Amino acid sequence: MVERKVILSGMRPTGRLHLGNLHGALDNWLSLQEDYKCFFFVADWHALTTDYTHPEAIRENTWDMLLDWLSVGLNPEKSTLFIQSEVKEHAELYVIFGMLTPVAWLERNPTYKEQQQELSHKDLSTYGFLGYPVLQAADILIYRAHGVPVGRDQLPHIELTREIARRFNYLYRRTIFPEPEALLTEFPVLPGTDGRKMSKSYGNCVYITEPSESVHKKILTMVTDPQRKRRSDPGNPEVCPVFSLHKIYSTEEDQAEVIRGCTTAEIGCVDCKKILLARMDARLEPIREKRRKLEVSRQKVYDIVLDGIEKARREAKITMELVKEAVSLNHDLGKGRD
Ligand code: TRP
Ligand code: SF4
Repeated sequence: MVERKVILSGMRPTGRLHLGNLHGALDNWLSLQEDYKCFFFVADWHALTTDYTHPEAIRENTWDMLLDWLSVGLNPEKSTLFIQSEVKEHAELYVIFGMLTPVAWLERNPTYKEQQQELSHKDLSTYGFLGYPVLQAADILIYRAHGVPVGRDQLPHIELTREIARRFNYLYRRTIFPEPEALLTEFPVLPGTDGRKMSKSYGNCVYITEPSESVHKKILTMVTDPQRKRRSDPGNPEVCPVFSLHKIYSTEEDQAEVIRGCTTAEIGCVDCKKILLARMDARLEPIREKRRKLEVSRQKVYDIVLDGIEKARREAKITMELVKEAVSLNHDLGKGRD
């Protein structure tokens, strides 16, 4: 059998996932797990780079994220699901990559400066934050991954990973690491309830496993085409954030009906939103149901994650053997004993 290509991705534990995460990233992971050898992990060390002064939420957020992954259908029989800090080999490789990564590569990384400015209320002038992409390179290369599904914002990190892989292979004259490709998820930005991009920091999110009644409340007060002030005004679905959701959840027929009804003022926004909500419920209810089941069988989830950690370690150890040999740290102290 030809070895399947290795795909790897991670998310920082930000807690429960919202619909933007589902359609921007997870839907893609779900289809990748059908054809590739996939590793998906919660990047809790990366969370610590920005939240080291207040790490209290990381553990609960990690758990919430894992439950959401399982609820949407990431399948532990197909994908290896784990927590970064439980696989120490990531850290080991990170130390070694640190030796051969020029500081200038990190300082010129555009994300580094941007994030420092954006998060100026936090002190991010740390060694760990500068080294964020080196750790990310270790995450990816420890599994010798070929493809990394990420959003556009992560491109500089993937480029750096390729540079580190190339430099390692060159310095030690062997091809241990492939140069991984970013698998861009080109997905139109999902609007939140205020019409801006759905994002935790805007407080405009609908969560994947939010109860139905709460989703209904949010959608019924969601902004619509601002030109459609009265029920009798015709609207324009193309500029309406509610219609962006129809494009994901509703059938072609529903969408055609909404376009017709909206542009002729035959239907009101509430009617339109009710059509959407029926479709959203149909898609999200099985996910909510799965989450409810998982909540009450914690031990089962622990076992799934323990198993993922075990599988990840096995793979990571193989790479570390090759790496240690390359950098002459294969001391083999136990050898010769029986
Ligand atoms: N930096 C990524 C983000 O913020 C998370 C991440 C950490 C990651 N390690 C990774 C993504 C390895 C892909 C591969 O979204
Ligand atoms: Fe938007 Fe629907 Fe209202 Fe038209 S009818 S403005 S598409 S919510």
